[in-house]
Amino acid sequence: MTTQDMRKIVSTIAGTGSYLPAKILSNKDLETLVDTTDEWIFTRTGIRERHIAADGEFTSDLALEAAKNAIHAAGITADKIDLIIVATTTPDKIFPSVATMLQRKLGIAGYPAFDIQAVCSGFVYALATADNFIKAGAAKCALVIGAETFSRITDYSDRSNCILWGDGAGAVILCAAQADMHSKEGVISTHLHADGNYETMLHVPRKENGQDTVLMEGNAVFKMAVNTLDQIVDETLAANGMQKSDIDWLVPHQANIRIITATAKKLDMSMEKVIVTVDKHGNTSAASIPLALDVAVRDGRIKRGDVILMEAFGGGFTWGSALIRY
Ligand code: UT7
Repeated sequence: MTTQDMRKIVSTIAGTGSYLPAKILSNKDLETLVDTTDEWIFTRTGIRERHIAADGEFTSDLALEAAKNAIHAAGITADKIDLIIVATTTPDKIFPSVATMLQRKLGIAGYPAFDIQAVCSGFVYALATADNFIKAGAAKCALVIGAETFSRITDYSDRSNCILWGDGAGAVILCAAQADMHSKEGVISTHLHADGNYETMLHVPRKENGQDTVLMEGNAVFKMAVNTLDQIVDETLAANGMQKSDIDWLVPHQANIRIITATAKKLDMSMEKVIVTVDKHGNTSAASIPLALDVAVRDGRIKRGDVILMEAFGGGFTWGSALIRY
């Protein structure tokens, strides 16, 4: 057998899905809550509105709707799923995990299901983990989700960050496939990093009254995010011997349009090649990348065979990227 005849397992995105709660909180609405303006929020962040979960609507409910859409798009039934990973910072309960709740809601049982907590980088962490399960032969069909109800940990009297966050969920079905040993199919590579020295720059400390809310040194986090994402773009291209021009689409974490624009500039990419949802979704933490991916797949911009770069930076700090041929 020659090396050309040799095959390898790759993981490919079989389908995507997403879900946003019905209620919309606009910048104008926020003007009535804190000392801010639509103009300030839009200019500094690119956000116009965000979705907010209803009373009694939890992360597992959003995850379920996104999962159903992804399962339908993949043309499979839920009983084909042999791994569930949910990236979330806002689980329904401290335990059990959203993933096991979702498994029950999907009417399946037995295979592994667990949550990953890497805040805004969570989806990239979850995708990398599922990809490694599949490449190791430990799973064949994974449901990978980013789902958040950040509104539940937002202090709507803190104008410095309540303007950012939104709720939502995005999902992908990641399936095992065979490919030529040297081909670059499916998830081409993933790159994960963390540095716990920055814990208190972006965190949710425990409060005695149970009202745990996000604290963020916004401007310092902003600068760290831009510099770190610059580096991860270089690392991802170098690891694959690829050029900037090989990337068809940037699907970034949607934290702030100014961070997204800086990464696009680094990649010499026109903003037409960048999937932007921050204007309508706000920052939905771990949900933002799969939400943006699903939007662009469904509106026909991202097509089979396109090369996508996903990247994210978040609390911890954590950061990471995934390079995928869709
Ligand atoms: O998703 C994971 C990681 N998170 C991020 O990547 C978020 C990163 N950070 C950001 O997106 C931005 O830092 C923010 C949007 C949070 C803040 O924007 P900024 O341009 O960094 O503003 P700033 O914090 O430096 O504040 C500038 C001014 C201050 O006033 P003075 O001190 O210059 O008089 C703030 O008090 O803007 C004021 N300000 C506001 N004014 C109107 C802060 N928040 C508001 C507000 N409305 N909502």
